[in-house]
Amino acid sequence: MKLLYKTVSVWMVLVWTAWGLYAQEPIQPIPKHLSYNHAKAVLGYRLFIDPALSADGTVACVNCHSFGHGGADPRPVSVGVHGKKGHVNAPTVYNSYFNFRQFWNGRAKDLKEQAGGPLHNPIEMAMRPHQVEKYLNQNGQYRRLFQEVYARAPRYTDALDAIAEFEKALYTPDCRFDRYLRKEADLTPLQKRGYDLFKTDGCITCHNGINIGGNSYQKMGLIIPYPWSAKAPDRFRLTKNPMDKNVFKVPTLRNIVLTAPYFHDGSAKTLKEALQKMAYHNLGFELDKKEIEALEAFLKTLTGRTPAILKEMGM
Ligand code: HEC
Ligand code: HEC
Repeated sequence: MKLLYKTVSVWMVLVWTAWGLYAQEPIQPIPKHLSYNHAKAVLGYRLFIDPALSADGTVACVNCHSFGHGGADPRPVSVGVHGKKGHVNAPTVYNSYFNFRQFWNGRAKDLKEQAGGPLHNPIEMAMRPHQVEKYLNQNGQYRRLFQEVYARAPRYTDALDAIAEFEKALYTPDCRFDRYLRKEADLTPLQKRGYDLFKTDGCITCHNGINIGGNSYQKMGLIIPYPWSAKAPDRFRLTKNPMDKNVFKVPTLRNIVLTAPYFHDGSAKTLKEALQKMAYHNLGFELDKKEIEALEAFLKTLTGRTPAILKEMGM
């Protein structure tokens, strides 16, 4: 009897586990509403679009993270102060709150730590913390706003905090695919086929979770090597381990049709080109025309609503 009971319960656990795995999709929708501190976010917005936070007064965060371009940069590599060209394609700031780390190689643990990066970077905004603080304290409007939000005179760390809060508000809910996951909308047969291919081809092994990426480091060129450059913003820069060459944080695929060009080096001009290279280098096969068409149709369902805070700011 005891043995029978044991056998039955083992079976039940197995059935439950299988059911759980089956029922759970490998991609989760982003929340319809995310709570954030509104006053901080509005201040963060002002800082985000203010070119006076750069050494030559010409470069704001928004220059390289364009609201009209899915939060990314239409240029293959970004251009900073004094027209200096970088080597890296700017990823989107939309939904970056959901990434497990920030930057292509994950060197910042969160958005607040990240925001200091471009401000200091000599080829981006090239400002020192005390210069930022001085500028903010000389500006009557900022003095008033920081007083209202942080109850003290402008401080550098509070500015980073406000920027991070604004970025938290840059989430794009209710894309068609999220509504499909919530059973609020259907996919067309082509979109559905694209999603099936995305799973059966193996894209899903790296692009999964709430951001369909942004939650692991993976090698670009896992199967067929991708050319490496000493300028690549990869994990190797941090670890000096040769295995980490061309290893990056997997980018999010949310709003992907809006954010061309693609890859850390901006080398793929179109989404089609990015898909072909992905399949070739990371899965070791070539996609045919029909597969590309279906995958593209699926990826188009990942474009969400414009962040509410941007509508509020009249963008
Ligand atoms: C000159 C262009 C430029 C400016 C100005 C700039 N960025 Fe970036 N941003 C980039 C590039 C390029 C990267 C990728 C760098 C890397 O990973 O090494 C990046 C990465 C990021 C990321 C990480 C996203 C992710 O998925 O990892 C965030 C968040 C971000 N920037 C926010 C900001 C904020 C906030 C500001 C203003 C304080 C700013 N950026 C200013 C070009 C720029
Ligand atoms: C082994 C892990 C892995 C697999 C499998 C994989 N990807 Fe990627 N994907 C990455 C990494 C890493 C990058 C960033 C590469 C770079 O910038 O050089 C990336 C980048 C992309 C990009 C460009 C994103 C951007 O913002 O620049 C697209 C689009 C993409 N993948 C789609 C797919 C599709 C579709 C598949 C399946 C056919 C797939 N990926 C399979 C890891 C993977």
